[in-house]
Order: sequence, then C-alpha cells, then structure tokens
Amino acid sequence: TVYENYFYSEHDFDKEHMGYKPLSIPEGVEAAPLPVPPVLKPDKLEGNDIYYTIEAQVGESQILPGKKTTTWGYNAPLLGQTMVVKTGQRVHVHLKNSLPVLTSFHWHGMEVPGPITDGGCHAPVYPGEEKDIEFTVKQPAALTWLHAHPCPSTAMQVWMGLAMGVVVTDDNEARLPIPKNYGVDEFPIILQDRTFHDNQLDYRQDYDPMGVFGEVPLINGAVKPFVDVTTRKVRLLFLGGSDRREWRLHFEHDLTMTQIGGDDSFLRHPIDVKKLLIGPGERQQVIVDFKDFKPGDTVALYTDDFKLVEFRIHEFAHTDADDKELPFNIFTPEDPDVNPDMPVRHVTMDDHDKINGLRFSMERIDMEQELNSVEYWDITNTNSSAAGMLHPFHIHGAHFLVVSRNGQKPNPNEINVYKDTVEVGPGETVRLKVYFQNPGVFMYHCHIIEHEDAGMMAQIKIVDPKDPDKEYKLMDMETI
Ligand code: C2O
Ligand code: CU
Ligand code: CU
Repeated sequence: TVYENYFYSEHDFDKEHMGYKPLSIPEGVEAAPLPVPPVLKPDKLEGNDIYYTIEAQVGESQILPGKKTTTWGYNAPLLGQTMVVKTGQRVHVHLKNSLPVLTSFHWHGMEVPGPITDGGCHAPVYPGEEKDIEFTVKQPAALTWLHAHPCPSTAMQVWMGLAMGVVVTDDNEARLPIPKNYGVDEFPIILQDRTFHDNQLDYRQDYDPMGVFGEVPLINGAVKPFVDVTTRKVRLLFLGGSDRREWRLHFEHDLTMTQIGGDDSFLRHPIDVKKLLIGPGERQQVIVDFKDFKPGDTVALYTDDFKLVEFRIHEFAHTDADDKELPFNIFTPEDPDVNPDMPVRHVTMDDHDKINGLRFSMERIDMEQELNSVEYWDITNTNSSAAGMLHPFHIHGAHFLVVSRNGQKPNPNEINVYKDTVEVGPGETVRLKVYFQNPGVFMYHCHIIEHEDAGMMAQIKIVDPKDPDKEYKLMDMETI
C-alpha cells in the first residue's frame, strides 16, 4: 500500500482562515546549498560518559541578501549543531547562557527527569549563568531536539533561533540497511518559517495569539536550499520547528517516501507515503530513493504547492551507501499493559489558550501519575469542527503510543512508534497510552508555541512510590 493522503481533513488546515500566511521568497534570494548543522564535538569522552558544552548565544546570520540578521543559536549564530548521543550513554551537559535574557534548555523528546534536567519553565538559566545537568539515555534511536522553554517567552526565543537537533543512535539503527552518512545521504531537515522586517526578526510586531506564521521558509536556516545527492537512497529527518505552521510535504514527480520513523523511535514496519503532514514539534523520518532519476535531474520537496528544497541528482560517487532492502520489521516497540486500576484521564485543549478550561500556572500541579504506571489519556480538541484548528499535543519527559482517533484506528504512521507530539483535529479525541520512566514535574501542552505561551499548557507530577513525598521547587511568574 502507498498512502496517498495527509490523514487530516483539509478543512482543518484550511489555508484561508485563522491568520494563515502563504510562503514566499523575497526578491534577490539565490539558491544555496542546504546548511547541514555540524555534529557537536564533545568536550571529552570517558568510557560511557560523554561531556558537552552548550552555549546559547547571540549571532549574525546572512539569511537574506543585504543586511545580516541578528539571530540566536546554540554554539552557532542560528539554530545549533547536531548533538549525537547513544542509548545507554551518560550525558553531561554544561549549559551556558550568553543571551541578554534568561532562557532554559528543554530536551524535547528526551526521557529525562523533570523539572530541572528536562529544562522547562522551572529550570531558568539567567544571563551570564552556567549550569550543569546530566542524564542517561534510556531510549531508542530517534531525532529529538533541544529548544528554549522559558515561560511565557518560548515562542519568541525559538523564533530567534534557539532550536537544535539531538540525535539518539543505538545498535538497532547501526544494523539497519539505511543511509547513515550524515551530510551525504542523511540530512536533518528543520522546517521553519519567519517574517523579516528590514532583514531583522521582530517577534512582537508579528505576534498573533492564534499562532505566528512566518512568510519566508527557513530550512536549516536557509531560504532557498538545494541538496546535492546521487541516484541512490537518501534519508531525511524532518523536524517541525515552526511556531504555528504545519508542513504538508510531498515530492515532485509523485516520488514515494518510505517512512521509517516518528518522534522517538523507528516505526515497527516502514510504510510508503506520498504525503506527510508534520505539525509543530513533530519529527518524521523518511527514505527517498532517487534510483529512477539520472544525473542532471532535479526533484523538489514541496509543502502544499510551494517548493521548499531542491534535490540535484548527480552520478553516484561514494562507495559505502547501503542499498539493501529494508527488512519488514525495523523496530520492536514496547507496548505495556494499561494499569487496570486507573480510570482514563481526560485532557481537553480549549480555545487557543487553555487545558481543561484553565490557563497554565507554574505553581499548580494539574495531575499526578505514578512512575511507570501505564494509563490511557484521552486528549480532546474542543474547538468546533466548523472553525477550529489542529492542535499538536505534546508531553515532556515521556513517549506515548497512539491508541485510537475518535475510537477508530490511528493513522498508519503513528501506530507502533513512540511519539511525544500528536496532532488532534477539531472535535477529535485521541487516545494515548502514557507512562513516565522518570520522576519529576513535567509540562504537557499544545506545541503551537503561541498557544503554549498563552496558557494551553498544564503540568503533571510523576510520583515515585519509593519516594512519594518528594517536593519539587516550582518557579512562579514573579521569581522568574
Ligand atoms: Cu518542545 Cu514544552 O516543548
Ligand atoms: Cu517538550
Ligand atoms: Cu494549540
């Protein structure tokens, strides 16, 4: 089977309503090679322990012709470098804030304890401050990401550029016959959009509580990128890095994408798709095979009818490409039984700024769940199906399994895969199986970042029965 649709109703991502802005490329922008974030070098590697320094900094980037743009990034002027860690590794990170404002370093998709290591609102790093965190990687191969998360200015800081890929690798991935020459036949594709004012970003000016669309595409920080590839397979790790925009990806010439991964793992079985919707916060991993093209051809990646990236086909040159067929089974997800003593939890995403009828409060714990207890969460988007939008629901510090959509089978690319962000359509209820393998206080929210900042966010305390009275120091809006 080749799936031919986005699995979401066109009406729900209607391009004509709720502040939608079409993409455009400003005059004078030339095509340029896709920037591939360099792999972040560890400070040291000692047996199973790996040490990194991550500095949030201000920089200048040549994005448009003319004046450079002031941007923020991690060890880079814009976005960051790609951090690569292995399952089982103990990771030590020295965090450094060289920005003029406080920030936090959130590991979206990493299953680490909350709330400090997780890096949400309760873990501010003040200007000039340095902090150390450490965690053990206890999850399978996937693309996760690091982004700023100071409440309520997450959206502004991500808009300025604070986002980078964090790749988890494992033995399963090493064994799989998939392209893995980073920057050669394996590329992270960070999908974003920005608006420029005299070549500068001005988040305040573009602010829209319903979510900020940018007018200009920014793919790994470039407006009009091309990638040199060969007549072989290429692996693309997509990251939905926009504040608001969903990406509706498809290839020119009706090229099939073989989807192999979702947010936090590979899929159990690869599936073939023609179209792929990626919401804010989500990751999707695909392989495309250019074998039917010849040197000199170009194949473009589109979102709707807008061309995002051009792949330029060349003669096959490198020798270590893996062209073997993918096995039918590429990952075996754990699917633990639900705790029969626990009722289904109900979480509603309301308007554009509330969860279960309430705006976020840093001092309020909205739910508690026991460590490792597997429970159903029913996530309902209470927007009317006549005039609502897709809200991407995200949980910190845990992966979940998607069980059903309105009682029906979930989409084929969200079955048997670990997710941490899932699109929920207006009027829809998505049932998740959620369990936390680390204690702490964690946020869950809509990943349209303006919605999150406006209050469509809540928090859960994960209680370790061995230490049930553990208290967590929560920040409030005044002390932050
Ligand atoms: Cu991408 Cu609160 O997270
Ligand atoms: Cu997160
Ligand atoms: Cu939302």
